[in-house]
Amino acid sequence: MIGSWIGFAIVVFLLTLGWWRRNRPNLPFGGSDRAATAWIVGLGVGVPIVILSALFVWADVFVINSTAAPKAGSTQMTVEVVGHDWWWEVRYPGSGVETANEIHIPVGERVLARVSTADVIHSFWVPELNRKIDMVPGRPGEVLLDAEHAGVFRGQCAEFCGLQHAHMSFLVYADPPARFRAWLAAQKRTAAAPAGALARRGRAEFVSESCADCHTIRGTSAIGQVGPDLTHVASRSSLAANTLPNDPNDLADWIRDPQHIKPGNHMPRLGLSSDEVNALVAYLDGLR
Ligand code: CUA
Repeated sequence: MIGSWIGFAIVVFLLTLGWWRRNRPNLPFGGSDRAATAWIVGLGVGVPIVILSALFVWADVFVINSTAAPKAGSTQMTVEVVGHDWWWEVRYPGSGVETANEIHIPVGERVLARVSTADVIHSFWVPELNRKIDMVPGRPGEVLLDAEHAGVFRGQCAEFCGLQHAHMSFLVYADPPARFRAWLAAQKRTAAAPAGALARRGRAEFVSESCADCHTIRGTSAIGQVGPDLTHVASRSSLAANTLPNDPNDLADWIRDPQHIKPGNHMPRLGLSSDEVNALVAYLDGLR
């Protein structure tokens, strides 16, 4: 950036100079055609070759190394991210933790993100944390996530992948290590038991209706693998890959008619009654 500012400043200076002395041939920096050729060859060809080569080598040696994915085994933590039409599956290998559409990492730690896709080409991109990496079928990719300060960073699919490409975003939470480990420990637990009669009815509906064909809730008989793992769905801040805030009203709207909110997504409209939706929301909202 600094290099390009300096180059730009020189170009603007020379342009201004040319304009200023356009009818004043005797001002400084004038001269013969030979001198003009020397200017063009020197500043137009020679200097850019030297500057761009130097910046290229510098980027290759320092910048790429410091932003490249850590070598396997050298990193403290790996997170696996799988792109789906149109949401993100997130797994923490070795812990059994699986979540969706949000990634939690400890701040100040170099985390290896291993990315792949379950269907078409997606592209994993958290602009504030690192470059993009495409998720190409059959070709797993790796990228470094290295948050220097705590915060929430938005990520977005950066490769057009169909109807709901725009509604395929996620959040990265970079937390102090202790807070991150508490989160991970909470996510490891199986789903909370339903509190109250309505929530119990919700759970019974969930496992007997088609919900369980697509979703997993660890600790119940729901082991579907098509949609997001919902074991701790109420702990997440958004629904449908950052399309809706995760609160009981929006959750009810989503269950009632997901095709209205996100047309073309793979969750069907089940035609549930209001009572059934209320029971499901009561149950799912308790899964913290
Ligand atoms: Cu996934 Cu665009």
